[in-house]
Amino acid sequence: MAIRKIVTIPHPILRQVMPEINFKQISLEGLKKIIDDLTETMFAADGVGIAANQVGLNLRVCVINAKTGPVVLINPKIQKFSWRKTIMEEGCLSVPGVFGTVKRARNVTIEAQDPKGEELNFKANGFFARIIQHEVDHLNGKLFTDKVIKYTQGEQPKNA
Ligand code: NI
Repeated sequence: MAIRKIVTIPHPILRQVMPEINFKQISLEGLKKIIDDLTETMFAADGVGIAANQVGLNLRVCVINAKTGPVVLINPKIQKFSWRKTIMEEGCLSVPGVFGTVKRARNVTIEAQDPKGEELNFKANGFFARIIQHEVDHLNGKLFTDKVIKYTQGEQPKNA
């Protein structure tokens, strides 16, 4: 395992839509190495989640630091956003020193694959749901600063 360098704004990969992983074309072993690196990098940086493009990898993969341990999502897709929203402060490893409040769905339904390509389908609530939305945004080239209602530390980056 290796800790990878986290890329920060204005790195262009943070604005790119990550391509889906095709399990017929990749090595599960290679994917596992990347996931281990992502997980280790997330823990080392004290993050609650990390997306592959945040370490410069062009892959539709993210890891969430859930209460029960790291949750790996391959090709995640949010199928349903709850009507109920919550507002909470967020930050991002790729936007250092900046924090602000963001409104997100309280619950989401996710479809994804696990590291072996098995289908996952589950509902997430609360903080877990929030991190998933933040990380899926990363995989779609979006940053939390696109959605900030009010900055609590720092300001809207001009070069993001
Ligand atoms: Ni982030």
